[in-house]
Amino acid sequence: MNIILIGFMGSGKSSVGQLLAKTTNRKNLEMDEYIVRLSKRKSINEIFEKDGETTFRELEIKVSKKLQDTTNTIVSTGGGIVMNKICLDYLKKNGKVIFLSTKFETIEKRLRSDTSRPLFQDKQKAKKLYALRNPLYREYANKTIVTDEKNVNDLVKEIINL
Ligand code: S3P
Repeated sequence: MNIILIGFMGSGKSSVGQLLAKTTNRKNLEMDEYIVRLSKRKSINEIFEKDGETTFRELEIKVSKKLQDTTNTIVSTGGGIVMNKICLDYLKKNGKVIFLSTKFETIEKRLRSDTSRPLFQDKQKAKKLYALRNPLYREYANKTIVTDEKNVNDLVKEIINL
């Protein structure tokens, strides 16, 4: 079985994914890295700048489709994966979805000086996105865990206990 980590930017999907993969003896797969490789661009920023968000979302769908046959893997998704339900339909075929739920205030602190996320550069827009997506994360998740004030070790333990 795969474990699919979903949640807003800065909720800790990548750090949790890395340790969870090690601890549960699974492969670790970062969807954003896969997408960058597939796009032949250098970064997510470059994809957004040169190809646009729509192209990025199409790549997310493409990668989700490829992953439907993967097993024994921890998949860290990008925060916008819930914008196209089809992605979750593919990812859920072999996997359980865990939502890392984090307050916007916590995320703001974590990403204060981040420049690698095109959709977190305007805080007001990011806050709107957060409000739009929160119900979707809840809808698609099999389980939700709260990440505020917890470290990666705690979160991995919590997921294993689930
Ligand atoms: C995005 C989140 C990013 C990345 C891209 C778009 C989003 O991933 O996929 O910048 O729409 O929320 P992280 O959630 O890992 O930051």
